[in-house]
Amino acid sequence: MSFRFTVNGEAVEVTAVGSRRLLDVLREDLGLTGTKEGCGEGECGACSVLIDGAVVDACLVPVSQAVGTSVRTVEALADGERLDVLQQAFLETGGAQCGICTPGMLMAGHAFLASGTEPTEDNIREAIAGNLCRCTGYTKIVEAIALAAERSAHP
Ligand code: FES
Ligand code: FES
Repeated sequence: MSFRFTVNGEAVEVTAVGSRRLLDVLREDLGLTGTKEGCGEGECGACSVLIDGAVVDACLVPVSQAVGTSVRTVEALADGERLDVLQQAFLETGGAQCGICTPGMLMAGHAFLASGTEPTEDNIREAIAGNLCRCTGYTKIVEAIALAAERSAHP
């Protein structure tokens, strides 16, 4: 069957069985390898993408459920060589180490920034609660999201 939706603002049409994971469609069919696979079971958040602005685990979403939606992946963030505000903040605070969790963290962080929720430490930690990181102890990631929130509020 074929399925139509948009990815990072571009219309795509994918031919696949409906149960094919969105994660595999993004990485293998569309070549968008920025989205990572960790657990493959909805536990780690490495595969987080946005569907219509909401954070989802792409390893749990069959492509059939993406029909008609707007999917955003980490590839949408930078403008050419120019990092977006959250990527720049991760770079400055050391929020990315091995990098496996980073694309998912960035997407969860983006959804948080877009929500307009007050960027307190507790709120940021709650926003990334579904994203596991084995390297950073989370503190630098929280700092990065707080820094990006501050810069977004006072550009
Ligand atoms: S790979 Fe999807 S949640 Fe871990
Ligand atoms: S930077 Fe390595 S898992 Fe988060």
